[in-house]
Amino acid sequence: MYVPLNCVIIDADATNRQELTTFLGRFGVHVVAQVGSIDGLPAMINRVDAPQLVIINLDPNSAEMLRKIGHLPRQFPSISFFVMSQTFDANLLMEAMHLGIKEFIPLPMSEEKLTAAIERVAQGFGMGKKAKVIHVIPTVGGCGSTTVACNVAASLAKAGHKTVLLDLDLVCGGAASYFDVRTRYTIADVMDSAEKLDKQLLDNALTLHPGSGLAILARPDLPEDTQRVNQPGLSRLLGVLGRVFDYVVVDSVMSIDPVYSTAIATSDINLLVMQLNVPSAKNAERFVGVLRRMGVESTKIRIVVNRYVKKGCDIEPEEVERSLGLKISWMIPNDFKNAIGAINFGEPVVLRAPRSEMSTSLSGLAGVLNGKA
Ligand SMILES: Nc1ncnc2c1ncn2[C@@H]1O[C@H](COP(=O)(O)OP(=O)(O)OP(=O)(O)O)[C@@H](O)[C@H]1O
Ligand SMILES: [Mg+2]
Repeated sequence: MYVPLNCVIIDADATNRQELTTFLGRFGVHVVAQVGSIDGLPAMINRVDAPQLVIINLDPNSAEMLRKIGHLPRQFPSISFFVMSQTFDANLLMEAMHLGIKEFIPLPMSEEKLTAAIERVAQGFGMGKKAKVIHVIPTVGGCGSTTVACNVAASLAKAGHKTVLLDLDLVCGGAASYFDVRTRYTIADVMDSAEKLDKQLLDNALTLHPGSGLAILARPDLPEDTQRVNQPGLSRLLGVLGRVFDYVVVDSVMSIDPVYSTAIATSDINLLVMQLNVPSAKNAERFVGVLRRMGVESTKIRIVVNRYVKKGCDIEPEEVERSLGLKISWMIPNDFKNAIGAINFGEPVVLRAPRSEMSTSLSGLAGVLNGKA
């Protein structure tokens, strides 16, 4: 299912090597070897499971190091060679180009440029980021954000999109029980940066829901294991899932702690679920405020009202739109019977009662998020 992008790092400085390894790990690039000298490189790349990427720091003797690389890029055209150097003169650059080096990265390096270059390599191997990440955030307890996340994910999966549901409500989350699936591994098990996040580990960690084909990554069993979930780990996980799936749906909580800030920044859509009452509207307003201050564009924020009733809401939808400065994207009707029935039965309402009004609405929302009107 998943082939990681493998990389070899050559750098005389051990600290640099380690830093680059950690940095690349966050983008789902697996460093198979990091060494101080170029001598062993031909043996490492002249094999069937050769890395797709070789990154070489030319310093301190850049011209000499470049000479040592010599004909390797031409001899192994399927491998992308990147070089880095603090020396950035025209001769060196010309020589690198002449040898068939793909990217010349001036030091100190621009993380943005390096990740863009890596993305190009990944795309060349059909491993580019393709997933749309939908981050579902509740504005108040019990407003139905898990219901929205699970049903949107199930709808997308059912429609044939490769979809994964990630439970980031780390202590209280119940995404797996909404689908009545037993999970052997959880998100805490794929955080270890020393471990290679490869096909086998992912396949083990993800649970497949038979009814929809949805992949689920559950929250940790033990609350104390939530401590193992960290920012670099989530970054790496989202990087990898983003290459494998069409959709990553995250059932989240309202937080800007590092893990959640990462989810916010990585997401294509931050979907706030609210009810038309004062506490929910107040929280929505505060959170939209912080999203804006974090630099999240309005096009990446969606407001969804759940449990809508035509008469008897505390606040009018127009009032909410005015205070948020955003349109409400979707309204899901209140349907206590089907909502609770789905939870008790362990099957999302879009699968269990697809013709109900609530299901039509939730499928409609999935359609909108999928870019269809
Ligand atoms: N549209 C709806 N109509 C009626 N009841 C609903 C609707 N959506 C959700 N519910 C019910 O509201 C309750 C809370 O739903 P859910 O667990 O999805 O909310 P949540 O925001 O994830 O809550 P938590 O704060 O516990 O994470 C559940 O009992 C669910 O059945
Ligand atoms: Mg929830």
